[in-house]
Amino acid sequence: MTTASAAPGSPSGPAASDSPAAPASALASAVPAAPPADPDELDDPLASAHRDAADPLAHHTALFLPAGDVVSYLDGNSLGRPMAATPARLDAFVRGEWGTRLIRSWDERWMQLPTELGDRIGAAALGAAPGQTVVADSTTVLLYKAIRASLAARPGRHEIVIDDDQFPTDRFVVEGIARERGATVRWLNVDETRGVTPEQVREVVGPDTAVVLVNHVSYRSGFLADLPAITEVVHEAGALVVADLCHSVGVVPTELDEWGVDVAVGCTYKYLNGGPGAPAFLYARADLLPELDQPVQGWMGAADVFAMAPGYEPAAGIRRFVSGTPPVVGMLAMQDMLDAIDEAGIEAIRAKSLALTDYAFDLVDAWLAPLGVTTATPREHERRGSHVTVRHPRFREVVATLWQEGVVPDFRGPDALRIGLSPLSTTFDEVRVGVAAIREALQRD
Ligand SMILES: Cc1ncc(COP(=O)(O)O)c(C=O)c1O
Repeated sequence: MTTASAAPGSPSGPAASDSPAAPASALASAVPAAPPADPDELDDPLASAHRDAADPLAHHTALFLPAGDVVSYLDGNSLGRPMAATPARLDAFVRGEWGTRLIRSWDERWMQLPTELGDRIGAAALGAAPGQTVVADSTTVLLYKAIRASLAARPGRHEIVIDDDQFPTDRFVVEGIARERGATVRWLNVDETRGVTPEQVREVVGPDTAVVLVNHVSYRSGFLADLPAITEVVHEAGALVVADLCHSVGVVPTELDEWGVDVAVGCTYKYLNGGPGAPAFLYARADLLPELDQPVQGWMGAADVFAMAPGYEPAAGIRRFVSGTPPVVGMLAMQDMLDAIDEAGIEAIRAKSLALTDYAFDLVDAWLAPLGVTTATPREHERRGSHVTVRHPRFREVVATLWQEGVVPDFRGPDALRIGLSPLSTTFDEVRVGVAAIREALQRD
């Protein structure tokens, strides 16, 4: 269960955007609104042009900034592309809200932003009624707050359940909390080409279980966990479920209220295109909220922020999960993507995501499988997120070469290449170009 660590800007690093800026517009020309179908192509079941021509969301690709020398961006599941509207939004912010309204903007807008944006994410992507979602901190910090608060809300229970293939930060946070609070970590062994199932959870939960942490979509395999069924199993055992939605928010329709999920956390720099280091969000079920005391008590989460009084009393609502001054600058870019999601609709986004991943599977089967590449992502639609993971012993070096050629998937050790497809910005042609480049790289010696 190793996970490669890597420097930002390397193929397996967290920040593809750290690559130097490149000359204009190869991707812009690679992603026209709807390329005309080439009659020759219509006979080719693996062609891309007719797929792009038939894509009802194709016009959304023009909403993103050109990506310089990049001809195929396959890492939207790691860092979403910036939107064309975002530079003007940032400029207006600096000159207006910050530049001239100055500190008055806290009263006029910024104090409300964490909950206002939380409500927008909740409505657009989470199936969450207002008042339950807030934007703050990083995913890691919010996971810490969520799990600590949930553990404390189940006194007398001392087990935290997590699977052994979860993202490193999730595992590390759980281990740290267990050490700090004298809790026990109950590890579930999962197949790394799949993810955790309700049956596996049922086998281990019981009267000692306080919290079960579930990754909705596995960062490694792209497996989509059955979150409603797992939530039911966890609740039958009297425990709480915390969901990590990093790889599902914005691409997989999620109904947190309907499913009864207790707490959920996710990031905004992948499919919500908030930019590198954009703050995360936390959802907490309204009727559970009064029981949740988060551990990083700060003035911005207090009932009366400017009372400057002795003693901490948490805000009654979701703002209690805020600790310090909200990262206002980091909350700007995601607003443009939320506009786009509202416009496109999450169901249509999911439909394109499935069409893109289906197409990626078809190309991989035809072009890469004969070269020894295997797939590590479930084939069933209902068990798949928006990336397809393929494996080959040479992928570490292949991905490094591809990056230099403007084809940008990412690498996860020991041998996995992830093809991450962000439905509003990825074209079918990019998928074809990307998989063809992988084939060529493997064919070279
Ligand atoms: C499933 C999952 N959880 C958490 C994180 C990262 O947390 P943070 O935003 O604090 O870096 C990632 C980052 O890719 C992730 O994939």
